[in-house]
Amino acid sequence: MNAEELRQQLEYYRDLGIKEVYRRPGGASGAGLPACAAEPTAQIQTTVASPAPPVALPPLAPAGETLFQILEDIGDCRRCRLHEGRNKIVFGVGDEKAPLVFVGEGPGADEDEQGIPFVGRAGQLLTQMIENTAKKEGINLKRSDVYICNVVKCRPPGNRTPEPDEMEICGQFLYRQLLAMHPKAICALGGTAARALTGRKEGVTKMRGRWFQWKDIPVMVTYHPSFLLRPYNQDAKREAWEDLKKALHFVYG
Ligand code: URA
Repeated sequence: MNAEELRQQLEYYRDLGIKEVYRRPGGASGAGLPACAAEPTAQIQTTVASPAPPVALPPLAPAGETLFQILEDIGDCRRCRLHEGRNKIVFGVGDEKAPLVFVGEGPGADEDEQGIPFVGRAGQLLTQMIENTAKKEGINLKRSDVYICNVVKCRPPGNRTPEPDEMEICGQFLYRQLLAMHPKAICALGGTAARALTGRKEGVTKMRGRWFQWKDIPVMVTYHPSFLLRPYNQDAKREAWEDLKKALHFVYG
């Protein structure tokens, strides 16, 4: 088990309310675990039951951590192969205190160039969808009032779908962003984000327009704006508008 897997497992234990873990004497040593730049937390203590040296546990996502701290922890990330072709890490944009967070799949070429999510054609459509739908529904909302990020923070080569291991490694940062912001609702854009957030395997067509959960936070699934850009997807566009309306009314009343 590598350091990130161990950290995720410990976070899972913490969510279950388990505050202490014990290391079996003679078990695998913690030596060699990479040091992590995030502030260490003592929320789960290790109790070493024998003369074995203390275990250097990777830090857990500290309660109350800020997006800035997460960004610092990401640093000049080389944790997965996606770093090889990236220009800029695309962390997220918008209001850190927003009650609504949009999650896409991963940066495209424009995003990789600028370091900002959803700034290309799909991003312009997303902005229109958010602002026009809100306006029509009598909700005063600009793109900058919500928070927008992706499952993976570096552009997959040729805009391919991120691989499961890339999503697992990078997904920990999305997990921490969502924990830090704790929005009232999340809107998953497309199948990759929907599956990453809900753990389900269905395609987006089956999941869209329905509420799921990420921890205690409701997740509305809708189509990815790139899909809606295709001219033959006009029905999907109408459906996406309906999905967004549901999310906006749930969050902003
Ligand atoms: N597609 C995504 O999923 N995210 C972006 O940031 C841009 C395009």
